[in-house]
Amino acid sequence: MKHSLGFFRLLAATAAAVVYLSNSPWLHADERRPAYFDASLPIEERIDDLLPRLSLEEKIGLVHANGKFRAGGVERLGVPYLWTADGPQGVREEVKVDSWEPAGWTSDYATAMPAGIGLAATWDTNLAEAYGRVIGEEARARNKHVMLGPAVNIVRTPICGRNYDYFGEDPWLAARLAVAYVKGMQAEQTIACIKHFAANNQERFRGTIDVDVDERALREIYLPAFEYAVREGGALSIMGAYNKLRGEYCCHNGYLLNDVLKGEWGFRGAVISDWGGTHDTREAALKGLDLEMGTRKPYEEYYLARPFQELLQNGEVPMSVLDDKVRRNLRMLFASGAFDGRRPGSINTPEHRETARRVAAEGIVLLKNEGGLLPLDPAKVGTIAVIGENAVRRFAAGGNAAGVKAFREMTSLEGITARAGAQANVLYSRGYAQREQFRGGPRDVAGVQGGGLREVSDEEARALADRAVQAAKEADVVIFIGGLTHRPGADDEGVDRADLKLPEPQDELIMRIVAANPRTAVVLIAGSPVTMEPWLSEVPAVLDAWYGGSEAGSALASVLFGDVNPSGKLPCTFPKSLADSPAHRGGARTYPGENGVVHYDEGVLVGYRWFDTKKIEPLFPFGFGLSYTTFSYANLRLAPAADSAGRVIVECDVTNTGSRAGSEVVQCYVRDGHAPVLRPEKELKAFAKVQLAPGETKTVSLELGPRAFAYYAPDRHRWVAERGTFQILVGADSRDLRLAGDYTLPATVIAE
Ligand code: BGC
Repeated sequence: MKHSLGFFRLLAATAAAVVYLSNSPWLHADERRPAYFDASLPIEERIDDLLPRLSLEEKIGLVHANGKFRAGGVERLGVPYLWTADGPQGVREEVKVDSWEPAGWTSDYATAMPAGIGLAATWDTNLAEAYGRVIGEEARARNKHVMLGPAVNIVRTPICGRNYDYFGEDPWLAARLAVAYVKGMQAEQTIACIKHFAANNQERFRGTIDVDVDERALREIYLPAFEYAVREGGALSIMGAYNKLRGEYCCHNGYLLNDVLKGEWGFRGAVISDWGGTHDTREAALKGLDLEMGTRKPYEEYYLARPFQELLQNGEVPMSVLDDKVRRNLRMLFASGAFDGRRPGSINTPEHRETARRVAAEGIVLLKNEGGLLPLDPAKVGTIAVIGENAVRRFAAGGNAAGVKAFREMTSLEGITARAGAQANVLYSRGYAQREQFRGGPRDVAGVQGGGLREVSDEEARALADRAVQAAKEADVVIFIGGLTHRPGADDEGVDRADLKLPEPQDELIMRIVAANPRTAVVLIAGSPVTMEPWLSEVPAVLDAWYGGSEAGSALASVLFGDVNPSGKLPCTFPKSLADSPAHRGGARTYPGENGVVHYDEGVLVGYRWFDTKKIEPLFPFGFGLSYTTFSYANLRLAPAADSAGRVIVECDVTNTGSRAGSEVVQCYVRDGHAPVLRPEKELKAFAKVQLAPGETKTVSLELGPRAFAYYAPDRHRWVAERGTFQILVGADSRDLRLAGDYTLPATVIAE
């Protein structure tokens, strides 16, 4: 076959073009697929490849929302939308792309995991990791790249409406759980968004309140959960809080976001605003925000949309600022596998339900068990009267952003009947009908719905109570199941509780019931501390079951009937009265704030740090929780770690001295009596949960790093562990310390 010269010229030119293209920085060897699609390349290279291909408008599109939970997406380049979803306790119900109305899908169910405070009550980091994995896997099934959780704010006041969502009052406990949760979730190709950064410790005035907190308290109490989740957990996103800190909104707070988070902690992920938490374009541009989410419309008018583009175009803000934000947002997308086809997810599998059940059961705290009323033997118990509205309520949808449309949710009554109904006679009497707020009507900017009030007539209330007392008389044992409703004013977003009491008429009704039948156990379903007057001294047994999620009922039944030995410990102090609580000692100044500012005058003395230092007796101390068995502690051993850089290994032997298998949370506190600054009486610095058969002894080994001895010295911007002798205290709760030893730090250490 003969070819013309022209043909050879064309062939040569094509070959040259192919060589050029395959060497080009812009195109991958396979010219149909740009390099950013190559899953084998490091994420940073993929971003380097994609970034220059984006136009200014496309970049702007990547830094603000274009749906209630959606952002980004560049069709031209195959950049997928970034889908986010609430929340910390399971993938939330689907809303319409552009409104808060439910989308009405039938496939948007999820496993409802127990509330954050219930997870915290397990003190089990393995369970926290498993918990994060469940949500991460369900998020994939629901096509969500970023889950808006965990929520790790510190419980400063026991009446904060969102305490149920959080991991309690101690920064170390919250930090360890946050790290495990984030690692679990991100191992499932789902990005964790830790929230709300920072010092969002009350719902009252949350959108405007300015938090005045000293630097030591900020660093020692309010930041560690975030810090560890970023530095150790590798969290790739973080949500700015609604409130201000020292005069600047947290969603664009130069100190928090630029200096601390991105500067000191080296955060490489994206700062996402809380919904509607952005207030200014220039600040958002320059003070650390990377992705503006919210509910304002039209999306082009978002602070980080057209107004931001204008600032860039007229040179007031350098393009590098935009590029950095785009990079951070792309990092989330790439890390979630969004460009590569994510692994398929699954929802509500038996494994997920089992994790939910285990977390719920392990988090239940036995507060009192006089005379061994619990556990009940279904074969011997005879007639059980289950009394109380919370026995038949479902809670998974409560709390607003943390609410989940549960595929199933087993109530307490269902759990008790399923476990014991074949052997025992189970009666149910409602006892009361909670006068309560319910959601309905229009939503505010954050999507929080307004509500109404369910009224109960006096006559109705009396009849309900009388019937319950009658049932109590007829029964061999009573299980009263009450607590809070997880609705506005009672453990819900946007509203704090008015006080610590159980809503009426529960306290009074419990008194009548226990008078009718002294064999009464009270089960609290609530996400924050409550007072128990006047009935605590009258009832022999009390359990706190928090909000237990999909398997709440079976978890509760397993503890009531002794299939699971309770091992939960309180992640926050239960005060005897609100006035004892540090946030409520200074009048409006310290809660809820005056003239727009709330002053954290208590400094580092939050939770048990306050009660212990000020010698105030709580109702139940931090870390408290009983078991159906007993444990003894012996042989405390302290030794500097082999590679010692201020690290100490703490060992002790724990023995199950009772006749049932059980788990114990071994808690290690450090007391610093020699620092030149005020230190709390003691602080939790390590813990471990250990399972023991009857009679079994195990050695528990804990590690204290240099930070365990350090305080934050604001003048030096460093953590300082002052040389001298520290006391190491080990025990079953913050006020039941069984072992003590001294550890001398030979030289002052500046800790990381
Ligand atoms: C809450 C966030 C939540 C967001 C989106 C806000 O009101 O504070 O926790 O993720 O709404 O629903």
